Amino acid sequence: MKINRYEDISQIEREAKRDYIDRHSAFVHCAASAVKGEKFKVKIQVGEEYKHPDDFDHYISWVQLWDGEKMLAQTTLSAGTMGSAPSQVEVDLYIVPTKSMKLMAHAFCTKHGLWQSNEVAVEVAE
Ligand SMILES: [Fe+2]
Repeated sequence: MKINRYEDISQIEREAKRDYIDRHSAFVHCAASAVKGEKFKVKIQVGEEYKHPDDFDHYISWVQLWDGEKMLAQTTLSAGTMGSAPSQVEVDLYIVPTKSMKLMAHAFCTKHGLWQSNEVAVEVAE
């Protein structure tokens, strides 16, 4: 499966392309450091400036959180979960890290495929 990667939309001139890239891209929001063995909150949001449709045949159907090559969690959504209106899917997770992480999220659109976030490094202290 082709993986679409996030591009910095401030470098893109065409409004339609900025919208297309932003509304499909997952963004990982979390602190830069965590404590080993303690719960750590990670938010994934799909779209930063733009909203994605929530139509019966076109919606964000799943979001995954990865640490490097390891998948940590997946959330599955149905058409209509976001009120059948354009929105930004948000998933809050609490994970318990044991070592430093390189977090990344994937979002899947039923029409436009798989999208990968930028990587976010988290230092985990003992
Ligand atoms: Fe889409």
